[in-house]
Amino acid sequence: MGIPAYSVRMAKESDGAISALLKLTQQPDMISFGGGLPSEESFPVEDLKNIINDITADLNGGVLQYGVTEGYLPLREEIVKLMASKGVQISVDEVLVTAGSQQGLDLIAKAFIDKGDKIIVESPTYLAALQAFRMYEAEFIEAPLDEDGVIPAELDRILATEKVKLIYLIPTFQNPSGRTISAERRKELMEVIRKYDVVLIEDDPYGDLKYTDDIYPTMKSMDTTGQVLYFGSFSKIIAPGFRVGYSIASAPILSKMVEGKQSCDLHVSIFSQMVIAEYLKRGLLPEHLQVINAQYKEKRDLMLASLEEHMPDGVTWTHPEGGLFLWLELPAGMSSNELLPEAVNQKVAYVCGDSFYAAGEPKNAMRINFSNATKENIVKGIITLAEVIKNKM
Ligand SMILES: Cc1ncc(COP(=O)(O)O)c(C=O)c1O
Repeated sequence: MGIPAYSVRMAKESDGAISALLKLTQQPDMISFGGGLPSEESFPVEDLKNIINDITADLNGGVLQYGVTEGYLPLREEIVKLMASKGVQISVDEVLVTAGSQQGLDLIAKAFIDKGDKIIVESPTYLAALQAFRMYEAEFIEAPLDEDGVIPAELDRILATEKVKLIYLIPTFQNPSGRTISAERRKELMEVIRKYDVVLIEDDPYGDLKYTDDIYPTMKSMDTTGQVLYFGSFSKIIAPGFRVGYSIASAPILSKMVEGKQSCDLHVSIFSQMVIAEYLKRGLLPEHLQVINAQYKEKRDLMLASLEEHMPDGVTWTHPEGGLFLWLELPAGMSSNELLPEAVNQKVAYVCGDSFYAAGEPKNAMRINFSNATKENIVKGIITLAEVIKNKM
């Protein structure tokens, strides 16, 4: 057979970063700081077993039959309550249950993006969002950032001069950098956004994983014009295997996303939705968050202390107040891509920084995850990584 006639958008060579990453995390003796996996000890196994037993004890049409695309109503009702706790008053008509928040990213691009349409992204940003948006042949504009996040005047300048369809931000405990947009900055950004005919996607899978008492209001809670779409997920706070996330949007936008979802999978597994709905209904989430936040804070602190102790001068890293990642910068001129084969050889994996930039640069950074490795392996992995870096300096 000759070369298959792939569509133009799929024919482009992928750098395979995500597949390569998932493969690396599977090697048994690898200390992987690479994936974005929650730790297995964070899963609320006993409560989930009880819920699953209760659901399967009474298997009936409610579980086994097709459902509506928008999602299982009791789950959407629970999501309405969850959003109220984040300062967002909505009705069930503004909730779409998605197969993880990843699917929301696909559906929103499907609804809005034609070839060449522009999306403003942070640099760096979540690599699988770039991947989802690229499928619809979006063009990216990287928004300039400072320590507080996207710079409002710069956003204003871009929006005044370019026709932009979407802005994609991860304001809280960002993937990959671990950074958070300050509360004041959020207000300023919202003022800019209100001036333009543009939609902001607030992607927030990490907002509940916080290790300080600081409170960051969601940007959706400041939305007075219906321009903010909020994407949430149960992957990092309950378990990713259920593949349950959600999109909050005004009813007209949501109906476009519903249409897009119908053409690919009709709806999220009813069983998964029931488990998550019941978990929320039983009021188990707040206490569970306290437990896992304490576990993750300990791991974050351990990784920060190990970095402090072992990294050579010239290497810097972020101090995230929540989420799962830190962002490490090597001295200018060094490349994390060039270090990776040796690091993998020494059984430590990370993700190279360039994968998180729409334009693929710069190369002197890496994302490291502190949630998944054991405490022993966090220390061991950082010592090894520091040695690999020192040997290349
Ligand atoms: C910023 C961000 N958005 C969305 C997702 C997708 O998560 P899920 O589809 O499991 O909800 C992730 C997962 O790592 C993420 O980091």
